[in-house]
Order: sequence, then structure tokens, then C-alpha cells
Amino acid sequence: MRINLANIKKAKKLLNKSECVAIPTETVYGLAANAYSDRACKKIFKLKKRPKNNPLIVHYYNYKKLRKDCNFNANFLKLYKRFCPGPITFILDLKKSSKISKITTNKKNTLAVRFPKHPIARNLLKELKFPLAAPSANLSSKVSAVSSSDVKEDFGKRIKYVLEGGKPSIGIESTIIDLRNKPKILRLGGLDISIIQRELKKKIIVNNNPSKISVPGQLKLHYSPGIPIRLNVRKIKDEEAYLLIKKKKKIKPNYYFLSKKGDLREAAKNLYSTLRKIKKSKYKSIGVIKIPNTGLGKTINDRLIRASKF
Ligand code: TXA
Ligand code: MG
Repeated sequence: MRINLANIKKAKKLLNKSECVAIPTETVYGLAANAYSDRACKKIFKLKKRPKNNPLIVHYYNYKKLRKDCNFNANFLKLYKRFCPGPITFILDLKKSSKISKITTNKKNTLAVRFPKHPIARNLLKELKFPLAAPSANLSSKVSAVSSSDVKEDFGKRIKYVLEGGKPSIGIESTIIDLRNKPKILRLGGLDISIIQRELKKKIIVNNNPSKISVPGQLKLHYSPGIPIRLNVRKIKDEEAYLLIKKKKKIKPNYYFLSKKGDLREAAKNLYSTLRKIKKSKYKSIGVIKIPNTGLGKTINDRLIRASKF
């Protein structure tokens, strides 16, 4: 992906004026604004129609820039060294002196932080004097955006600018880990938790389906393409699209496969674009074949289970 400096300059100018700009990341596109500005962050909530109690992830260039806002701990530094920049979000304690907008955090004393790897996002973050609050650039509860045209489809002219960044290399949201006490996964994502576990040398708790919802990403209906989804399907219904994990020998027009050979990383990367494609083709519902619950298959199943609560 070639970097167009004029485009980055334009995005920077708008962000400096407390406007919202959609930016590419390696996971999904984000709807970004100055995380230190109440005015800028309010615009994100309004555009996304996002409930005010759902705090935003804040994106930084590197840990040095984060020092002003959060307290670090040993586990954070270990995982940062190994995986950042990359598809992992950390929940850390916010410093009292931090200038992060209370709109961003919903007055919580914790902050979700991420260091995106996409070269365009990095170029932008390096030059700005503030970090970027950026939830996924889709309407609340819908499928995340994995191209600039997905973002435009959801927001049309209501969004001032979409910074072009091609197709994300991961294609599914970051893995969220709460590092304040015992490491705890709050959302499965683009980084396989078994690799995180290996790095920390201990088993980590996965708490993405709590009885008490602490994060709306844990809500039942989320990531929804807007039509019913049936899981573990062997036989599809009339007017139904069939979502497969790998290409079959005999392909029918209503068959969609996430990967040629059943590679789960590739499948995760193609999930959202395929769901959007199926929706546009006017199918009434989606039948999904059983997907192996290992590696990124766990993340795919998590998203499809939530999307199926239609
Ligand atoms: O890959 C990603 O993480 C993308 C890209 C754009 O960076 N962002 C993303 O943001 O997925 P969003 O807003 O769609 O999901 C962020 C999740 C939400 O479920 C939110 O509730 C949770 O992170 N979150 C934010 N702040 C939190 C906090 N302080 N404690 C716990 N969860 C938090
Ligand atoms: Mg989201």
C-alpha cells in the first residue's frame, strides 16, 4: 500500500479541528477523533449512534506517548514488546493527571489502548499532538468496516473524510485484554489468545460472556449483517446463502467461502466483507457451516454467535 502524504495531511488538518475522520487500521477501519477533546469525541458517539456508556479505544503511536495517560505494569510491557504495534488492546489504569476526555471513557478510571500497525495510521499518530479515540467505523451493533467503501456505505456524507488505506491485513477487531489484575480477555480478536498465553507463561481467563455485561462488545446482538444467521448448518434452506470455511468442489451461486483451503486466519480476514456481500445480494438468511473452534476460529465463532441473535 503506497502512502499518500497529501491525504494524511488532509486527515490531520480535520483532526486538529476536532472533526471525525475514518482511518484504516490493520484490524478494521476506525472512526477517529482527538481523544483529549470532549467536542471531538461527542461527534463519534453521535455519528455511530453509539450508547454513551460504551467507552472508546484510544490509539497511540507508541508507549512513550501513552506515559502521560496510563500507569504501566510488567505484563503490559511484556506484551507490548512482543505484539505491538499490532491487533491487541490493553485495559490499563488511567492516571489522575490524564487529559483523556471523560466522554471517551464514560468517566471510567480505566482506558482501552491500542497501537495500530497499519502504516497510514502510524504515520498519522506519529505527527499528531494527541492520541486518537477510534471505535470501529460502522453503525452501532452492525458489521465492522473493512474498506473505505464500507465506511461510506454506513455514513455517507455525514462523515467529513475517509482516509483510504486499502484492505486491512487482519480484518477482524483487536483482542482486548484487561491487565489491571490477573490478565483477562474481554473480547476475542485478531490475535490468537494461545500466543498471548504462551508469552505470559500462564493460563489467562476468557471473560467475554459475563453474566454482567461490562463492555457492549460483549452484548448479545452485535456485528449483525441485518439478516438472520443460522449456525452449524448442514443443509441450507431456499433463498439462503451458505457460508463455508473452505472452497467446496461443487460450488453453487449461493455458496460463499471464507478461505480457499480453510485457513482460519484468512477466514477471519474475509468474514466481514463476505457478510456484507451476502446482505447486498438480497438473501433472506445465512446458513453457516460448523467452524473449527481453534485459533482464530474461536474469534469467528464469537462474532457469528453474536450476529445470530437477530
Ligand atoms: O481493532 C479494534 O479494536 C478496532 C480498531 C478501529 O482499533 N476498534 C474497535 O473499537 O473495535 P470498538 O469501539 O468497536 O470496540 C471497542 C470495545 C468496546 O466493546 C468497548 O466497550 C470496549 O472496547 N472498551 C473500551 N474502553 C473500555 C474500558 N475502559 N474497559 C473495558 N472495555 C472497554
Ligand atoms: Mg465495534
